[in-house]
Amino acid sequence: MSQATAPLRIAPLTPGDVTRYRALMLHAYAAAPDAFTSTPEERAAAPDGWWAARIASPDGLSQAFGAQVGGELVGTATIEFSAKPKTRHKALLIGMFVAEPARRLGAGRALVQAALQAASARPGVQVVTLTVTEGNQPAIRLYEAAGFEAFGVEPMAIATPGGLLGKVHMWLKLPPCTPAA
Ligand SMILES: CC(C)(COP(=O)(O)OP(=O)(O)OC[C@H]1O[C@@H](n2cnc3c(N)ncnc32)[C@H](O)[C@@H]1OP(=O)(O)O)[C@@H](O)C(=O)NCCC(=O)NCCS
Repeated sequence: MSQATAPLRIAPLTPGDVTRYRALMLHAYAAAPDAFTSTPEERAAAPDGWWAARIASPDGLSQAFGAQVGGELVGTATIEFSAKPKTRHKALLIGMFVAEPARRLGAGRALVQAALQAASARPGVQVVTLTVTEGNQPAIRLYEAAGFEAFGVEPMAIATPGGLLGKVHMWLKLPPCTPAA
């Protein structure tokens, strides 16, 4: 079945997904160097424990989601939470990537929604933030469509193959939780 016709499945990743998550993200750092602050070389040196904690940290502060098509991991996004009393109302969306053949099929949108649902479900979380490299219009449009708003640009924030680029900071205020009837 082609990726255009196979159903898209979004689910939280588990430590058992370390090998394929690592492979997808090492590809992401190489294929989209402007989008990420890590290099493939840096991350290739990280032990499996680092990747497992990114996917699903035992303290519950990090949870990655996977987009699968026909059983293949084609996309991912991670939501990170804070344990600090003064910042635990905020969550951070990171590590967003959809493999090239699976783009424009809704995986990115579905991953953002899964991350936002996880943030909404966590008691006390009211805000989700992220950063995106200036000029990355596919990602900026994706985030704007999900309700994120830009509130500033950090100049010269990331060294890319084309030079220093700014990082757009975006935020989304989550709707207040309505208690189940
Ligand atoms: C950004 C990215 C995750 C989008 O993933 P995707 O699965 O193709 O996105 P979707 O198919 O869910 O698209 C959702 C919306 O995002 C926007 N969008 C996505 N790709 C776009 C593009 N190439 N041009 C313009 N808008 C785009 C559109 O608003 C789209 O809605 P529409 O299809 O109804 O017009 C993907 O392009 C990617 O992995 N890019 C490289 C890594 C990266 O930039 N990560 C973000 C780091 S902050």
